[in-house]
Amino acid sequence: MSASRQIHLVRRPNGVPVPSDFAVVEVDTPDAGEGEVQVQNVLMSVDPYMRPRLTADQPLDVPMIGGGIGRVVQSLNPRFKEGDLVRHGAGMQELFTNDGKGMQVLTPDPGLSLTVYMHALGGTGITAYGGLLETGALKDGEQVFVSTAGGAVGSVVAQIAKIKGCYVVGSTGTDDKAAWLKDEVGIDAVINYKTQPLAEALKEATPKGIDVYFENVGGGHLDAAMPRMNVRGRIPVCGMISTYNGGGDGVRNLFNLIYGRVRMEGFVASDFPHLQAAFVSDMTGWLKDGRVKYQETILDGFERAPEGLIGLFSGLNNGKMLIRVTS
Ligand SMILES: NC(=O)c1ccc[n+]([C@@H]2O[C@H](COP(=O)([O-])OP(=O)(O)OC[C@H]3O[C@@H](n4cnc5c(N)ncnc54)[C@H](OP(=O)(O)O)[C@@H]3O)[C@@H](O)[C@H]2O)c1
Repeated sequence: MSASRQIHLVRRPNGVPVPSDFAVVEVDTPDAGEGEVQVQNVLMSVDPYMRPRLTADQPLDVPMIGGGIGRVVQSLNPRFKEGDLVRHGAGMQELFTNDGKGMQVLTPDPGLSLTVYMHALGGTGITAYGGLLETGALKDGEQVFVSTAGGAVGSVVAQIAKIKGCYVVGSTGTDDKAAWLKDEVGIDAVINYKTQPLAEALKEATPKGIDVYFENVGGGHLDAAMPRMNVRGRIPVCGMISTYNGGGDGVRNLFNLIYGRVRMEGFVASDFPHLQAAFVSDMTGWLKDGRVKYQETILDGFERAPEGLIGLFSGLNNGKMLIRVTS
């Protein structure tokens, strides 16, 4: 047995989650038995998708859902050896023992930071790649608008669109994210939706309309994008974060879909296994040659996971929000 900690949901949030909706619980973790592994968590992800689950699917008083990268510390399973790095979906646990199902050994490229496997080369990266190129059916040189452009998914979408020769407008909620997008990433226009009137600013920033709106926010963002959509435009619907805590602005102009022949289609990251090899090859190259840049907000300490999750809804993160459990 080894002492460990878990993050539990102890109360369903009302609106934006608060720290007292969660508890850090001390537990004893059993040693690995026959066919099992024991894993020490290294990096954990906190993600917007978790919020709707807090209202419905996430059971109380058990480890919170979530993915991460861990290191095998005991193995009685032939698929793993001590010291292996693994990707896992075992949730918010410092240390855990299981049969290894669903875990993959990770062999990071020595030229890249391990953390990129939690975003640009991980789940948010394939979401951006598949959602933009397949669901959004992006063509070279098109007019693109992406919301939460300073975040994990949005920043990768914006950069893939630039690589494809597109005109790219992004929205974000802070001036420092806006400056990074404009000055470091080099997108064509940035709107701070908290300080600028979104519909007017978007109209001004998209003189040739929008062919692809990569939707991460919903509500007022969708309302502002809808009249700007070009004929045969596409709206790959990745997320609608402005609605996850309840409330949010209504959308009154979906009728623009009709004469615009606009296609709006939801998708999830796991829809693109057939793109995985091309994604890894492209993204590894783009990261290494600096064509995809990234930001990370890393909170040190397992117990900070609730703070990180809550922070996503106030824009605390620049780029991917991660929790470092151990180095
Ligand atoms: N379909 C899928 O499989 C899939 C997979 C991953 C993510 N997603 C979705 O993709 C979107 C981005 O996720 P991510 O992981 O990359 O997170 P992220 O963008 O790195 O972080 C969330 C960001 O959302 C912005 N935000 C929060 N509340 C907002 C609001 N009310 N209105 C406008 N912006 C708000 C904040 O940035 P600002 O400072 O700019 O406000 C915050 O930093 C989310 O909608 C998520 O659900 C979908």
